[in-house]
Amino acid sequence: MAKTLVITSGKGGVGKTTIAANVGCALAQMGEKVCLIDADIGLKNLDVVLGLENRIVYTIIDVVNGAVSAKEALVRHKILRNLYLLPASQIATKEMVSPDDMKRIVSDLEKEFDYIIIDSPAGIERGFRNAVAPAEVALVVTTPEVPSISDADRVIGLLENFGYPDEKIKVVVNRIKPKMVKRGDMLTKEDIETTLALDIIGVIPDSEEVIIATNKGIPVVLNGASLSRNFENIARRIKGERVPIEEDIKVAESGGIFGIFKGFFSRKRGEGR
Ligand SMILES: Nc1ncnc2c1ncn2[C@@H]1O[C@H](COP(=O)(O)OP(=O)(O)OP(=O)(O)O)[C@@H](O)[C@H]1O
Ligand SMILES: [Mg+2]
Repeated sequence: MAKTLVITSGKGGVGKTTIAANVGCALAQMGEKVCLIDADIGLKNLDVVLGLENRIVYTIIDVVNGAVSAKEALVRHKILRNLYLLPASQIATKEMVSPDDMKRIVSDLEKEFDYIIIDSPAGIERGFRNAVAPAEVALVVTTPEVPSISDADRVIGLLENFGYPDEKIKVVVNRIKPKMVKRGDMLTKEDIETTLALDIIGVIPDSEEVIIATNKGIPVVLNGASLSRNFENIARRIKGERVPIEEDIKVAESGGIFGIFKGFFSRKRGEGR
């Protein structure tokens, strides 16, 4: 039976789709059979990030309408043959799918896969409810800025209301800017952990590599970028391996920003907390 995760956030544009694609690829590279579900109906871009937009024949709407089964609608990744995508439709709306439809789709697929990862749309409306309904674990993505964290906090409250226990909600901090951390202008991991009162499952630096990869339709994990390790570490933690969060920092150091992330993590502790 697959473990089902949803990648969500309060604020839009914080990196959900990027993280869904890269963590999905990392798990597939580790030999897991992975299905990514694009729940961002009406906008969709998981297919573009994965370079699969020209291979789509059916979408999640065809599955909901009963035209095809969920399995028949899957698109197989070109390189990672154990990675599949259930695409969203661009010409539909989120109201055409219900949380029960999503649960049915996941229950049809869960026997076939080790992991199912659902990419949630921004906001807390129907699309969000569709995305979180069938998942067991939620990864809440935030950037280290107050508006993003306060939106993440709101989403965490909603997840708790939906019945997610705290240990099934994890935080990913994306787009850390080393220079700002060095100047003390950016919130620290501890600031974020204290505000959200949940574990951080990964820290990802802000990097041009992500933008270049997105434009090419090849996730960073597949093109040997230095950032790959950050996504791989999240994948390993999802698999239950104990990978210290400091591993994410070491990666950042070897990427040429030595010492800066160290400061990011030790600043608060050094203040005698
Ligand atoms: N770590 C990063 N470094 C640099 N750019 C990034 C990083 N993560 C994401 N981005 C860029 O930020 C933009 C938004 O990312 P993405 O589409 O993954 O966010 P999202 O949360 O899925 O957005 P939406 O809420 O619209 O679905 C993209 O252009 C992406 O390439
Ligand atoms: Mg997205």
